[in-house]
Amino acid sequence: MAPGSDAPPSDAPPSAASRAGFARAVLDWGEVNRRMLPWRRSRDPWQVLVSEVMLQQTQASRVIEPFHRFVDRFPTPSACASAGPGEVVRQWAGLGYNRRALNLHRSAVRVVERNGGRIPADLAGLLELPGVGPYTARAVLSFAFEIDVGVVDTNVGRLLARAVVGRSLSAAEAQALADDLVPVGQGWAYNQTLFDLGARYCTARAPECAACPLGRRCRWRAAGSPLPDPARSSAGTARRQAPFAGSDRQGRGRIVAALRSGPVALGDVAGVAGWPEQPERARRVAGELVEEGLACRVGNERLALAGA
Ligand code: ADE
Repeated sequence: MAPGSDAPPSDAPPSAASRAGFARAVLDWGEVNRRMLPWRRSRDPWQVLVSEVMLQQTQASRVIEPFHRFVDRFPTPSACASAGPGEVVRQWAGLGYNRRALNLHRSAVRVVERNGGRIPADLAGLLELPGVGPYTARAVLSFAFEIDVGVVDTNVGRLLARAVVGRSLSAAEAQALADDLVPVGQGWAYNQTLFDLGARYCTARAPECAACPLGRRCRWRAAGSPLPDPARSSAGTARRQAPFAGSDRQGRGRIVAALRSGPVALGDVAGVAGWPEQPERARRVAGELVEEGLACRVGNERLALAGA
């Protein structure tokens, strides 16, 4: 047991008092320490959606500049919908996973066609948008509409597993627990702060428990941080990505980066992808880009960004 621990005994579900104490500790720390990130200044549902899609697979520090650029160029869903998908992919430069840009464009077209250009304010409506899953839908509900729901990404799932229950959590358990813990009327600040605590202290590989403001109430720490780390097997957490170097994803990224400057001759695609000796592989990946709607053929000889 960690010295001076306030954590409840293991196995008992967290009591109402311990849930409230947890939320209070999160909010108190956040009031002073929460990061001032540009998307946190906005409650505009489109801007919040854009930021959360960008943050799905990219660190916050790397999202700041592309976020400003993107919302300056596409301040509303209708501005985005009336641009071609190629232009949207071009503005996605620096972020990778270009499919996300295409899905944002499709979402913009959809809300313009079916919802008067407004991002839906309910879970079911948000989940119908391309590329919007349970995490992103709840992030928009909390961060744009200030609805009190739990927002569980990888970092938050890890923190809840360790600090609140001290065991691994399935996705459904993590969501139910997160919903239960949100302090009434303060979900926005609470959820944003959990991201910062997860990123700063409750990290995947080297958690800084001694410095963590939740350390005294953390169940895993109170039990002596036994292995296996509960975060390891929790849903949605700790999955290692396959190496990027030499992957299809790397070649895809290179092809899309070249297409941002203009069409590429089909005969040059393998070289552009970094696979001059693997024209078959380059053809397959280029075919996938076309199939997904990111790229299109121009005549028989060239590949271009779709709708650019
Ligand atoms: N990761 C996902 N959403 C985030 C947010 N709103 N702020 C910081 N990091 C995040």
